[in-house]
This record gives sequence, C-alpha cells and structure tokens, in this order.
Amino acid sequence: MIYNTNLLNFFFVCITSLIFLKKYCLAEDLISGYHFSEPSTQKIQDDDFLNPGFIWVENGELLWNKKEQSSQLSCKSCHGAASEMTGVALKYPKITKKGNLINLEQQINICRNENMSAETYEPESKNLLALSVLLYYQSRGLKQDIKINEKNKEYFNLGKKLYFKKIGQMGLSCNQCHDERVGQNLRAEKVSQGHINGFPSYLLRWSKIASVHKRIQFCNEQARAIPFKIFSKEYNALQLYMTWRGRGLKIETPAVRK
Ligand code: HEC
Ligand code: HEC
Repeated sequence: MIYNTNLLNFFFVCITSLIFLKKYCLAEDLISGYHFSEPSTQKIQDDDFLNPGFIWVENGELLWNKKEQSSQLSCKSCHGAASEMTGVALKYPKITKKGNLINLEQQINICRNENMSAETYEPESKNLLALSVLLYYQSRGLKQDIKINEKNKEYFNLGKKLYFKKIGQMGLSCNQCHDERVGQNLRAEKVSQGHINGFPSYLLRWSKIASVHKRIQFCNEQARAIPFKIFSKEYNALQLYMTWRGRGLKIETPAVRK
C-alpha cells in the first residue's frame, strides 16, 4: 500500500507542476497583472466608482477642455472630444518625424509646446498623468498591437537587450523576475509577468497614478540598480519592447495595484 500512496503522490506532484507551468510559465500565455493582485485590490479596479484612478480620468477631461491663455486653444479645439482619441494610445511609443522614439506623455508635451504655446508639464506631474490616463482610458478594452518595422526596430532591439540585461548590485534582469519567478512571492507581492496594459496605473502604496517609466524605476531601485531618467531613450525602448511582448492583452487603464 505504501508503494501506491507514493505513486499517487508522485502523480499529484506531476499534475500540479504541469498546471503551474501552464498557468504561469509558458510564454504564450499572457496574463495581466490584474490576476496576480489581491482580491481586495482587484475589487477596487473592478468598480469605476471605487477606483481612484477615475479622479485622474476626470481631471484629464477638465484639462482636455481647458483653453490656454496664450493661444486660446484647448486640446479639444483641434482634436474634438477625448472619445475621438480611441485607439491612439495603442500606437505609442512611436517614432517621430525626426526619428526619435517618444511615449504618449511626451507627445502631450509636444502638443502643448508646439501647438498651444503652453509650457510643458514636468515628467510624472499630476496634469501630465491625468491627460495620459484619459487617453489610455479611451482605448480600454482594446488589445495591445504594436508593430515592429524598419523605423522602430533599432529601439526594439535596445529594449529587448535591456529587458534581459543583468544589472545592479544583485545582478538581476527583468526576465529573471517577470518570466522566471512569475507567481512567486517577493516582499509580500506576487510577481506578475510585468505587463504594462494597465498603465498609467493607480498605486495604492503611493496613493497616486504612476507611469510605466516610474514603475520601471521602482523595479530598478528594488533590485539595487541605478534607474534611467523618465523619458530616457532606454525606458522608451523598454516600453516599446514590453508593449510588443504584451500584444494581445487588453488595455485596463486605469488599473489598480498595491
Ligand atoms: C527582483 C525582482 C524584479 C525585477 C528584477 C524587476 N521587477 Fe518589475 N516587479 C517586481 C515586483 C515584485 C512587482 C510588483 C508585482 C507585480 O506586478 O509583478 C513588479 C512590477 C512590475 C510592473 C508592473 C506590472 C503591473 O501589472 O502593474 C512592471 C511593468 C515591471 N515590474 C517591469 C519591470 C522591468 C521592465 C524590469 C527590468 C528593468 C523589472 N520589472 C525588474 C519585481 C521585479
Ligand atoms: C493647434 C492644434 C492642436 C492642439 C491645440 C493640440 N494638438 Fe495634439 N496634435 C495636433 C496635430 C496637428 C497632431 C499631429 C501631428 C503631430 O504629431 O504633431 C497632434 C497629435 C496629437 C497626438 C498624437 C496622435 C496620433 O495619432 O499619434 C496626441 C495624443 C495629441 N495630439 C494630444 C494632444 C493633447 C493632450 C493636447 C492638449 C494638451 C493637444 N494634443 C493639443 C494638433 C493639436
């Protein structure tokens, strides 16, 4: 009989490992960070009235319609209602005419500067993130679907290289956590696949919205690596690679995380 229980145990271990592998480790299975959040956090995201990210959506809407003194123009003057911007966020990070890679927040600042004669917003400032959340929210439910072509390939390759590069005092790369340790606990958090389909996201620990670049800085700091600057070429390249890596995942902005 002992022999039988051992055999049963063996099969049990095999089957649970297979389920675990299927659920968390196979690259083809894209899982949104939502599924790694605690149920209490998920509940806040599920309810647009509870989700504090919607304060940013509302502020973004106010800013969208606000005319700047300098030009008497609002975003709406040129682009129409914010709802007209459905699908636009999916194209970012995007190559400019000059050949640089920029993200959506940088595009917002370009429009303010070049099209409205208004001062640019500081990186990670409330107003900039409010407009970014508003625009990503217009694409909520749409799938990430960025294309890699001759123009953005160089940045894509840089982003991919950075994703696999071992850095910092601990010599850790992004993939060592977000591919190899998926589902494991790390400082009371479950490591997710590190997708960006919920960004800009509301972080409960900071009681504010964070951009993709801010989140990557935080991961860098936790792994004792020196972060790059927000809007740096390196983070835009990483953002491009990560958007591609998560293609097929639906936008959830504003997502809620711990
Ligand atoms: C030491 C492990 C570790 C490393 C290395 C690491 N991260 Fe993270 N990362 C985490 C943890 C823990 C979280 C919070 C839980 C979660 O969402 O995975 C997180 C969250 C994220 C998220 C947010 C996911 C979401 O759904 O909100 C992104 C994006 C991310 N990391 C990207 C990166 C990138 C890019 C790198 C490499 C530059 C990196 N991480 C390196 C541990 C790590
Ligand atoms: C005077 C007209 C004008 C105003 C005002 C204006 N924009 Fe633009 N915007 C444009 C033009 C023209 C383009 C396309 C060319 C370019 O990329 O500059 C554009 C492009 C964009 C794009 C990228 C669209 C795409 O398909 O990639 C976004 C996002 C955007 N604007 C956001 C804003 C926001 C947010 C504001 C307000 C803060 C704003 N714009 C104000 C004229 C304007």
